[in-house]
Amino acid sequence: MKSKIILGISSSIAAYKACDLARMLSKDAYDVFCVLTHNATHLVTPLTLQTLTGNPVYTTSFALEWREMGHIELKDNAQLLLVAPATANIIGKFANGIADDLLSTTFLSVNCPVVIAPAMNPNMWNHKAVQENITKLKKWGAIIVEPETGLVACGDEGQGRLASIESIYNIAINAIRK
Ligand SMILES: Cc1cc2nc3c(=O)[nH]c(=O)nc-3n(C[C@H](O)[C@H](O)[C@H](O)COP(=O)(O)O)c2cc1C
Repeated sequence: MKSKIILGISSSIAAYKACDLARMLSKDAYDVFCVLTHNATHLVTPLTLQTLTGNPVYTTSFALEWREMGHIELKDNAQLLLVAPATANIIGKFANGIADDLLSTTFLSVNCPVVIAPAMNPNMWNHKAVQENITKLKKWGAIIVEPETGLVACGDEGQGRLASIESIYNIAINAIRK
């Protein structure tokens, strides 16, 4: 049976790179189910991800297509929750138990490994609020794929750029195999 991966996508400008990630995972026979935050739908379309994965794409808990309880249904048989890119906002929600959308309720409900690949402006990444949230998530067992240092989309330089898709892919696959 194919391994089920939940790919969470939040609204970083790097969200377009998640399309390549979804394609790579699907091509390698992983069963990929994308969960987009509402804001991420402004940056990448559910149709693109549905076409690349061959699976429905989820953006809300409150939809008629759910059979039972939409906010926690995705957790069943999941072998990995991979969140790429992860915004400062979704990291803050995860680290503080906030459960106000499908991605944050999914985070709280899974019992599989969790891999998080943050992407944001370097000042945001270096802010104590974000760093303390990251420390908390690591302590709870989440695997953080550190963002790269360089030029970010807004023109600033520093650490915050989404790690390469290849390294996120490798770390994610290793997390499943463990
Ligand atoms: C064009 C654009 C790009 C953005 N890129 C980032 C980003 O790379 N990282 C980040 O943390 N926030 C970024 N933001 C801000 C988030 O979209 C914002 O905090 C949003 O509320 C996060 O919602 P979500 O976590 O539910 O997706 C960006 C906003 C815009 C308009």
